[in-house]
Amino acid sequence: MHLYLCGATGTGKSKALEYFARQDIAQWEQSRCGALIIDPHGSLYDSLINWIAWNEPDLKDVPIIPIDMRQSDWTIGYNVLRPREVSDPSVIISNFVQAMAYVWGADGTQGTPLFARLAKEVLWPIYEKKLTLNEVKYLIDSVGKRVRMEITEGLTKDSVAKGWNFSHTLSPKDFNTQFSSTVNRFYSFLDANKLRFMFGKSGASLDLGKALEDGEIIIANLSTKADWYRKKMFHFLPPCCERFMGSSQGARQRR
Ligand SMILES: Nc1ncnc2c1ncn2[C@@H]1O[C@H](COP(=O)(O)OP(=O)(O)OP(=O)(O)O)[C@@H](O)[C@H]1O
Ligand SMILES: [Mg+2]
Repeated sequence: MHLYLCGATGTGKSKALEYFARQDIAQWEQSRCGALIIDPHGSLYDSLINWIAWNEPDLKDVPIIPIDMRQSDWTIGYNVLRPREVSDPSVIISNFVQAMAYVWGADGTQGTPLFARLAKEVLWPIYEKKLTLNEVKYLIDSVGKRVRMEITEGLTKDSVAKGWNFSHTLSPKDFNTQFSSTVNRFYSFLDANKLRFMFGKSGASLDLGKALEDGEIIIANLSTKADWYRKKMFHFLPPCCERFMGSSQGARQRR
């Protein structure tokens, strides 16, 4: 089911949406229904959090997960490459590569085949060895060959193992030439502290699909005053949401 709220400027669309969300939260005890509220601007987030704080005595049993990209003193772990038992690693890695390509302005990876291949080569060992995006920097370091060899040892995926065997033969200069555009794209994530903290936790990680199945209410503010890449977080949410939309009938979502 889709819902569109249309109306002239200032006629109460945002407020109506906020009231829908409030009702979902207030009636959580009866419905136990999960919700994902994504606010790209921040005002809905602020308004809802204020309302929740004001009504805290009545809502203390409601499992609410606030995610605020403006805040730097706390963060939520969201390891997009966390091990999953059910999904094929290729699917998880390819979703992430697509999202990265999208952030960089390509609709898919068709126009950037070298990036698609190298990003997969970088992400595969990270996933298989249960590392996080934080450790990608060791794999793309042209002079850190020994560490690279260590991380890529014994990979189960033949094509990826072969790719690395070749890369290990390259001089630092050739390695740089080969990987430079991939390195730049990864560093736009690794340079942002907030994203590093979120994506770089190997243990505790939010599992959006499971949280929604369990009836949790996730309220995410993706607005940010500064760095453009934080806003791009948005592109990393849809694959998880779509998976959930296919599997659960009870919970509702809003974007
Ligand atoms: N039911 C209502 N009763 C009284 N005031 C309302 C009501 N709904 C909204 N308002 C007020 O009207 C103003 C505009 O509301 P809102 O921001 O929700 O409109 P909007 O349609 O989302 O506008 P925009 O197109 O600019 O995003 C706000 O100050 C809000 O507090
Ligand atoms: Mg509005």
